[in-house]
Amino acid sequence: MHREITQGVYYVGVDDTHTELFEGLWALPFGVSYNSYLIVDEKIAVVETVKEPWTEEWLDNIREIIDPSKIDYIVLNHMEPDHTGALPHIAKIAPNATIVYTERASKFQKSFYDVTLKERIVEDLEELSLGSKTLKFVHAPFLHWPETMMTYLVEDQILFSCDAFGAFGALGGRLFDDEVDMALVEKESKRYVSTIITSYFKFVQRGIQKVKDLGIGIKMVAPSHGPVYRKDPMWVINKYAEWSSPELEKYCIIIYGTMYGFNRRVAMKLKRQLEERGVRVIIHNVSVSEPSEVITDAVRAGVIVLGTPTYDAFPFPRLWHFVNEMQCKRLQKRPVALFGTYGWGGGGVKKTREMLTEMKFEVLEPVIRVKGRPTDEEERQIGELADRIAEALK
Ligand code: FEO
Repeated sequence: MHREITQGVYYVGVDDTHTELFEGLWALPFGVSYNSYLIVDEKIAVVETVKEPWTEEWLDNIREIIDPSKIDYIVLNHMEPDHTGALPHIAKIAPNATIVYTERASKFQKSFYDVTLKERIVEDLEELSLGSKTLKFVHAPFLHWPETMMTYLVEDQILFSCDAFGAFGALGGRLFDDEVDMALVEKESKRYVSTIITSYFKFVQRGIQKVKDLGIGIKMVAPSHGPVYRKDPMWVINKYAEWSSPELEKYCIIIYGTMYGFNRRVAMKLKRQLEERGVRVIIHNVSVSEPSEVITDAVRAGVIVLGTPTYDAFPFPRLWHFVNEMQCKRLQKRPVALFGTYGWGGGGVKKTREMLTEMKFEVLEPVIRVKGRPTDEEERQIGELADRIAEALK
């Protein structure tokens, strides 16, 4: 089903309520949309395709408006297959179409699909006339891959922003910010940006500044996932600016693993001590919490506290996985506190500390290692660590 956005511009994207894990990693309890936009003028352009299994539904949406074989331009802002999977299919249906993308995207295209349509490589801020409407291409590297750009529809002031300003959550027939549950959109946008784009926060800041510096009017932000913002397009831009800001927030997150509850006891004692000192605490058990919720809450936390039991002489595997995420998501440097319980060897805390030091995180003292249940001395250390965390958050 298509929706008209403004005269001659249509939403022709699809909902995916089948995929359980985005990128094979992040839960999709509300699904996700793959947005695609059709612009019908003297020339016809489609901005983005969809993930491959949804090709037929996407083509049907286009067929409600025009014959897809008449498409002149396939604008690919980004080569990730959730936006390009249908390319080989549309290439067969519209053999005279031209793919419009960056030079780097062209190289990706050849390695992913090797579709042999004509192509037009666009430079930053290059324009393409469709007749009465003009497309302007704004290079936006690392939003979310190095080849990415945004496309701006000049006359209608619509910014097709690609992954930037996107959200998890299928649209279910609704499309605009004034039609959807914005509380859910806020939660799912933040979870999306924290899981997908955290590594590229500085590029989010640069991208927003670049759009502002262009001085272009923006009547709508039309991303490649989630709703189209027409009522308040600045809402999502401002939220992204806030969520990607280097200014962290004054709260602490405790992320811990536990097998039999010993480590949980330390985590809860520390939480109580922190709250007695007026510190806001978010706590996650890595065996229970959805990983995307953990990373979302961790990204903005002023202090991260890790609690690991020792498991086969190593850190608790799910906690260790989070430490790896801290590295590959390039989590901004901030103080990290560490505790852990063990039965005899205690390698969990030792190896986690080594890794944090290698990653150049400041590790707050005391690092607490508890054999079995906490002794009186270790109880005192928990209070001391709570003091250090509270000071770090001031
Ligand atoms: Fe929605 Fe980076 O692809």
